[in-house]
Amino acid sequence: MGRIAYVNGQFVPHGQAVVHIEDRGYQLADAIYEVWALFDGKLGDPEGHFVRLQRSLSELSIPMPMSRAALTLVLKEAVRRNRVTEGLLYLQVSRGVAPRQHAFPDAPIRPAVIMTVSRVNRAADEARAAKGIKVVTAPENRWSRADIKTVGLLPNSMAKQKAKEAGAMEAWYVDDLGFVTEGASSNAWIVDGEGRLRTRDTNANILRGVTRHTLLDIIAREGMPVDERPFTPAEAIGAQEAFITGAGTLVLPVVAVDGKTVGAGSPGPVATKLRRLYIEQARATAI
Ligand code: PDD
Repeated sequence: MGRIAYVNGQFVPHGQAVVHIEDRGYQLADAIYEVWALFDGKLGDPEGHFVRLQRSLSELSIPMPMSRAALTLVLKEAVRRNRVTEGLLYLQVSRGVAPRQHAFPDAPIRPAVIMTVSRVNRAADEARAAKGIKVVTAPENRWSRADIKTVGLLPNSMAKQKAKEAGAMEAWYVDDLGFVTEGASSNAWIVDGEGRLRTRDTNANILRGVTRHTLLDIIAREGMPVDERPFTPAEAIGAQEAFITGAGTLVLPVVAVDGKTVGAGSPGPVATKLRRLYIEQARATAI
């Protein structure tokens, strides 16, 4: 069975899913998105992603396209129609279609909504997590509202390409003061020399990762020491462990930064444990 996408109220074959050329998301990146990990065909970490979706929309004065209850039903129907159990669910909401001008349209327009569902190979993901990934650093060059999950991802896309060309899987942005902000599509963490978990605080210009937030709850519950404080690439290289978090990667150990080995050069016990705990909890609380 082929993939099915949702476009503005209709489920259509993926290959025929199209939007208008004057969709403001297409022309101006005037759109936001969310990504849920799917476990057993259910939405992982649902609350956090819904809350952030509503916040992103409200920051851009885009109305919620439908009630949260209705949206949940449509999202779940998209998953069901694709018969995906382990995967990712992508939702994008743009301001809508209007003749191209920079300012928002005067008259209210209908937000454009699309959804796609993709399958992930959890066995391959686990094999990757058991090996760990490499990251490279890149100068922070995004706008100052990285807290809004917009589709304006060209800097992220370019940083990711740089990582790919260097044989790495993620790029970590470094700000003018020399501190890591976050990854191109994930939040960045280390276990520092004293064994404390460190990740940047969300007053900085970063995305408030849902996986990050849930993991902080798990860390508190486990009584592990944590410090929401930035770190430098040198500190990451000298750290016991490093890892990233995100809906696409869950908790994924990092074993090298800019070609230099982190810790023992293999995934450490803390990241490995946190990955297991996160997945267990996300599976148990998926809806
Ligand atoms: N990326 N930082 C950035 C810049 C991100 O794009 C993401 C998520 C995260 C982690 O957020 P969360 O834990 O809520 O997934 C942090 C998604 C998965 C993506 O762009 O595909």
